[in-house]
Amino acid sequence: MIEVREIGKTYGSVIALADVSTVVNPGEVTCVLGDNGAGKSTLIKILAGVHQHDKGQFLLDGNEVRFSSPREALDSGIATVYQDLAVVPLMSVWRNFYLGSEPTVGWGPLRRLDRRKGRETTKTALAEMGIDLRDVEQPVGTLSGGERQCVAIARAVHFGAKVLILDEPTAALGVKQAGVVLRYVAQARDRGLGVVLITHNPHHAYPVGDRFLLLKRGRSLGSYEKGDITIEELTRQMAGGAELEALEHELRAVQK
Ligand SMILES: Nc1ncnc2c1ncn2[C@@H]1O[C@H](COP(=O)(O)OP(=O)(O)OP(=O)(O)O)[C@@H](O)[C@H]1O
Ligand SMILES: [Mg+2]
Repeated sequence: MIEVREIGKTYGSVIALADVSTVVNPGEVTCVLGDNGAGKSTLIKILAGVHQHDKGQFLLDGNEVRFSSPREALDSGIATVYQDLAVVPLMSVWRNFYLGSEPTVGWGPLRRLDRRKGRETTKTALAEMGIDLRDVEQPVGTLSGGERQCVAIARAVHFGAKVLILDEPTAALGVKQAGVVLRYVAQARDRGLGVVLITHNPHHAYPVGDRFLLLKRGRSLGSYEKGDITIEELTRQMAGGAELEALEHELRAVQK
């Protein structure tokens, strides 16, 4: 569905991304891994229409594209869930679910929110993803971080996204909550969406990922199919292999 070929992006003199290639297929999860400053967010911002690449090619369904706004990317079926989530904490869950496209009844000066329909649709859409919320009228701010991510994923699925991009959805979560979010990632995948999952945790990426793109200082260390790499190798590559072993040695020396 999406293919990037030797894509690159510079901010002034900073090379944020260079020569990165990968694909996103329907019903598959492409994981983007890398340490802080590796260029992960830069890559997804290009896919999401926030920034534009200045090198290489970005193809959507085989056609070269260049989005000039996030709206344009969204209209092409690419939905992005950012880590800080564009939610309004004091607004109810169902209003956040719609956020600007709430159903209405009546017309002209009599047009008003169709609360009942909004509540019911939200409840059904969440239930379809296996999310059981007591009350969709409760403020979104009262949900846990994991639940909020799940609502955002369900929203993208409900509004017909083809590609779902998640920027570190599990970064701030505990072990159990991260597991719940990963389960919804797998569900979105099983519904045929192409998913891009950004994380710096190989243990979160490996169970759900079909393909792993490793970035380091803006460059690609390789894009691996799941069958071509083990979790140990993935972890090693990310940590910089030899660097980690040297660190381990150093720390052990300190202990003594
Ligand atoms: N708007 C910007 N202007 C200048 N430099 C930027 C800008 N955005 C990112 N960079 C630089 O580009 C590089 C890649 O940043 P990016 O945010 O893509 O990293 P990341 O992999 O998402 O890191 P993190 O894990 O910390 O979120 C960094 O060196 C960063 O300082
Ligand atoms: Mg980032």
